[in-house]
Amino acid sequence: MQKRVDHLIAIKAFTRQSTPIPSGTSFESAVKALLEKWEDERTGYLSVTSPILFNTLSERSRQPRGVLPLITEKPAAVKSFAYYPSSLGILRIRDTRGVILGYRFKIPPHLLTTLNNSSQTLDSCGASNGGGGGRSDSAGLYESRDYTVSAADGKKYAESRELLRDGEKGREWLRENQELFDYCSNQLRFLSPEQYVRMTGSVVKDMAKTQSADGRRLRPLGGAWHGVSLNQETDSESGSRCHQDWSNDKRLFNCIVPFGEGFQGGELVLWQMKMRIGLEIGYGFFFYGSLVAHEMMDVTAGVRNSIDLFTHASNYELLAKHEQAAGKVKYPAKQKKPRSTKKKEEGQTVKENVATRRKIREGKKLRQSATSAMRIKREM
Ligand SMILES: [Fe+2]
Repeated sequence: MQKRVDHLIAIKAFTRQSTPIPSGTSFESAVKALLEKWEDERTGYLSVTSPILFNTLSERSRQPRGVLPLITEKPAAVKSFAYYPSSLGILRIRDTRGVILGYRFKIPPHLLTTLNNSSQTLDSCGASNGGGGGRSDSAGLYESRDYTVSAADGKKYAESRELLRDGEKGREWLRENQELFDYCSNQLRFLSPEQYVRMTGSVVKDMAKTQSADGRRLRPLGGAWHGVSLNQETDSESGSRCHQDWSNDKRLFNCIVPFGEGFQGGELVLWQMKMRIGLEIGYGFFFYGSLVAHEMMDVTAGVRNSIDLFTHASNYELLAKHEQAAGKVKYPAKQKKPRSTKKKEEGQTVKENVATRRKIREGKKLRQSATSAMRIKREM
């Protein structure tokens, strides 16, 4: 436990400024208490293993954008996938090397009530190809809008058209659901503090240098995540198509949170992981939407709404450009490592061998010239 506390503090997942420290308690003790509370709340969670490694998913994601893995061409295969219904509770999915690939967690009901009520106040925006920060991949036909800050043009951070279109109503919806976004962010902070830091660190400072048309400094809109997609009214008539969220950062989880009055079906299929994840109202789910081909199964009864928290890769590309321009190279070229003793010794041997061979060659030449000189003398 202490090691984990030290790690959370060392990588700045928790700072003195961002942590409530009760009087008479040290900063370290406060972080430890928060971590213990989080562990208590997930006691007895189910842990399962993915048949595919994170590294394999990552390598295969380098294929051209829009090309889905072959397995997605066999729809019948879904029936044989491992199924984890919501009744199994909190679920952690890891690969055989211990990398977490998915995580289902509980969400307090009052946050979902607020989400449901606030979403009903938004005007209908019409059915479109929706689905989590990568709309060009045609995730499905249902009502969807993205509120995000991204650098899609590669030049500057900007708020999404849909937020600008919805204006104050959209901003009010974001404010009302801030507690939910923060709750999900906090889950991520404990589960994968590195991801949390990647989303809330230098990229946020860089983003804040840009102002909106009305003078606000830009900032992430979905808690730690830079954007949130609101998908509404998915029923048996609509549904989703298999896709990957190509625009999202490949090192970060998406977070899906279903909500509404109740529905049946709508499980999340994770193709390369050969899994079906039950996602009833009351749960949220982290997974790599950018690496794993996914789709929602048919909603067989009721209506399913959901939010999807995501972060565009373009923000990190722009950050890297800015850091380079400022002379701050984030990942400097590898320094020449000093040779190990063994290598030094090997190098020494090679040098010795070269010198010996040179001596032999020189000796041979001397002998040859002496022989020819003698031969010339004899002939004379
Ligand atoms: Fe998606």
